[in-house]
Amino acid sequence: MSANGRNGGQTGPGSLRAGDLRCEYLVNPLAVQTQRPRLSWRLEAVCADSPRSAPRPRGLRQRAYRILVASSPALLRANQADLWDSGRVESDTSLHVPYAGRPLRSRHRCFWTVRVWDQEDQACEPASPAEFSVGLLGPRDWQGRWIGIGQDIQHPVPLLRREFTLDGRVKRAVLYATALGVYEMRCNGKRVGDAVLAPEWTSYAKRVQYQAYDITKLLRPGANALGALLGDGWYAGRLGLAHIARDCHWRGIYGRRTALRAQLHVELTDGSEAVVGTDGDWRFTLDGAILSSDLLDGEHYDARREMDGWDAPGFDDSGWAGAIPMRPRCGALVAQPNEPMRVLADLTPVSVREPKKGVYVLDLGQEIAGWCRLRLRGRRGQVIRLRHCERVGDDGMPYVDNLRIAPNLDTYICRGGGVETFEPRFTYHGFQYVEITGLDRAPRVEDVTGRAFWSACRPTGSIECSDPLLNRLASNIVWTQRDNMPGIPTDCPQRDERCGWTGDIQVFAQTGIYNMDLAAFLTKWLRDLSDDQAEDGRFPDFAPHPFEPHARFSGAPAWGDAGTIVPWRIYQNYADTSVLSEAYEPARRWVDHITRHNPDGLWVKERRHDYGDWLNADTFKFDRFPRGLARVPGEVLATVFYWQSTDILARMAEQLGNAEHAAHYGGLASRIRRAFHDAFVDSDVRIQGDTQAGYALALGSGILDASLHARAFDHMVRMFEPFDGHLSTGFITTVHAMNMLTRFGRSEQAYELTMRRTFPSWGYTIEQGGTTIWERWDGYVAGKGFQDPGMNSFCHYAIGAVGEWMYRTMLGLHPDEANPGWKHFTIAPVPGGGLSWVQGRYESIRGPIDVAWRVRGGRLSLNVSVPPNTTATIHVPTSDPASVREGGRAADRLPHLTPLPSTTAHPAAVFRVGSGEYAFTAAVR
Ligand code: BGC
Repeated sequence: MSANGRNGGQTGPGSLRAGDLRCEYLVNPLAVQTQRPRLSWRLEAVCADSPRSAPRPRGLRQRAYRILVASSPALLRANQADLWDSGRVESDTSLHVPYAGRPLRSRHRCFWTVRVWDQEDQACEPASPAEFSVGLLGPRDWQGRWIGIGQDIQHPVPLLRREFTLDGRVKRAVLYATALGVYEMRCNGKRVGDAVLAPEWTSYAKRVQYQAYDITKLLRPGANALGALLGDGWYAGRLGLAHIARDCHWRGIYGRRTALRAQLHVELTDGSEAVVGTDGDWRFTLDGAILSSDLLDGEHYDARREMDGWDAPGFDDSGWAGAIPMRPRCGALVAQPNEPMRVLADLTPVSVREPKKGVYVLDLGQEIAGWCRLRLRGRRGQVIRLRHCERVGDDGMPYVDNLRIAPNLDTYICRGGGVETFEPRFTYHGFQYVEITGLDRAPRVEDVTGRAFWSACRPTGSIECSDPLLNRLASNIVWTQRDNMPGIPTDCPQRDERCGWTGDIQVFAQTGIYNMDLAAFLTKWLRDLSDDQAEDGRFPDFAPHPFEPHARFSGAPAWGDAGTIVPWRIYQNYADTSVLSEAYEPARRWVDHITRHNPDGLWVKERRHDYGDWLNADTFKFDRFPRGLARVPGEVLATVFYWQSTDILARMAEQLGNAEHAAHYGGLASRIRRAFHDAFVDSDVRIQGDTQAGYALALGSGILDASLHARAFDHMVRMFEPFDGHLSTGFITTVHAMNMLTRFGRSEQAYELTMRRTFPSWGYTIEQGGTTIWERWDGYVAGKGFQDPGMNSFCHYAIGAVGEWMYRTMLGLHPDEANPGWKHFTIAPVPGGGLSWVQGRYESIRGPIDVAWRVRGGRLSLNVSVPPNTTATIHVPTSDPASVREGGRAADRLPHLTPLPSTTAHPAAVFRVGSGEYAFTAAVR
């Protein structure tokens, strides 16, 4: 077969273009830890000879593909796929095709493209080439050794360096680096890459991530220098919850000696190769400027100790000591599979106040996770302190009680003699306000920059509407997510906690996925979760889990169930079956663990911390509502999750082709379901506890028999009465309550809940100045003050899971489990709340889906776009299906629209469509 495939050898008239080539979810990764990486692409419509504004063609599909992988760009250009030519494959698959060519070895660099054929079997232009490289696959590929300084922690941040000579011009250079601790690599006076806090938090005894950097441009013929700064980070610094686990000052939970490991491969233009690894030839000093740096404590920097040129060649390091080779106990080195953390937003303060003489408080106008960069002129030895907090009190002074024992304090000692800039490296703070003391005069806003960082997952969702409060809510959700992505999904960024709490991400995952592409990020975190699973199958309540044994924080209902629910979300949204196979055994051990203790199908025993529907209205500090009507009983909540995990497990088994397990766990799920009904649902369909939460959960999870839905929903609605129409739900059930209101025909009530401003509501938190989602509905109540400072974060995403409701109800976007990865999906917006318009986009793994609706003068317009190679079911909201037009023509006569019966509680004309752009109008009342 010719390289151009079946029709001719000519590319051309095809209506598709493949693009956005990704390997293991990443764009041109420099290191993947596998010899069979999975390749994916996205399809776009091309409109030959038509202006960009012309409507895109419809019903586009990929009929076949052909992947070419070559060992050089030139070979690829010449269609010589010396590594792998998949040949023409009759398939509409565009995701996760495993490389199946010549065996790849460590550091193999591969260039690839894909050609597709469209629905008419026309060959399309090949995609612009992409590349990937294999990382260092095994321990023997590492020539660089672990090195350190031979001392326990609590010393200034070491600087390490090594010079080397290159006898020729550099063709390509890749640096692999990692640390037990956190590091920043330097080369010839410049910073290497832009990742922060690498190599990220993992269960270091099991897995340590390394990063790869292309530093070709930093090297030169002759003398070169590599340098490194080595901070304590999660490995050796203070970690959240250590105060509960042992003592307040506990550090070095994973290890008390930080270490660096790096290896540089340089290809010279003459074909020779040089390798420089970490070894005893490296030198270190403790005389650097960073006196201490800790994630929770902050960074203390003495600019008088700066050493110019230490990371460039020619520096006199004769006073430095030789680095000590080490053999630390740690797990396998693996290439980082997820996007690195980067500084992704710089904020200029919106105000500077001076609540007390010489105390300046700057407001960034937005809570971020990050730090400040400060520019100043100071006297030599002048000490500047930056204290970070989320809120200020009525007196304008920082409110820091809720930070518990995390000081969030950076100090800077000036060098003097001109303008200087301070920016910490190995710490971060969750804050909106920074208090600066020690200055001679008030800072100007342009002297301070709030630097926000998060795992650089691509943004995928946006939603905007005619109501500013809802827009603010959407923004608060996104920011809360950003602020809680330091390589893992955390609960909060500010107090001494910042852990990968499982319940929080379990309930937030779908919202998070709408907002950002979390495929690689959550894949990495699921490994953290299973790395720290207890022997008996208990998942930890947060992961990575630094405390041994897990006795204390593990095995809680709705928390541990993240081990089934999160991989299932990944599967639904990204069609990733590898994640399912990786997650399957851990998930099975989890379900078996619950079953072992609860043979009767009700999860009554072994619930450990049993957080339940955390922070529901029964926990309010200030009496506002009757007590005891909000908390769903622990065994009810737990049994729903037990059922849900078992049901997911059965479906995972089915997907993975394990019929025996599918039948076994399917049967178990049925027994749990029966037991639930027998024990907790009475003849009037009251669910034990009679709470909003219980009904929301039973309906939302799917455990309840369909014949009982209407009655249970009535009960849920009734239980709004004692709360004056407010939600009484907590972390786990709020999103279910919202989704159920829409599903069972009360979307107006759901809109009203998102738009109300009375306590407790999202709107109330916004009225109180919230720029992120609060941990507690009653974090601050006007006239009453702050909740218990022992647990009162203003940046927790759990109840921000209402974002899922916004995407589902306002934009109407629903993935379809039967066609995972948005191969088919539903667009069923439900207008309401008096909104005149909503518009938004979700960049699915297969391409962007746009939705915009507007109501004007008794007519609704709905514009949607459906990516190539996907299909959608569109619900055009109207009670008069005959009034529906598409592109100005009566919709029932258009051949590209296949009418379907309406299946939801909301009157609509329903059509099945292929890809393309559609403009509907319909009569609305
Ligand atoms: C965390 C939560 C977590 C919870 C467990 C809290 O301290 O901040 O977000 O899920 O503990 O109930």
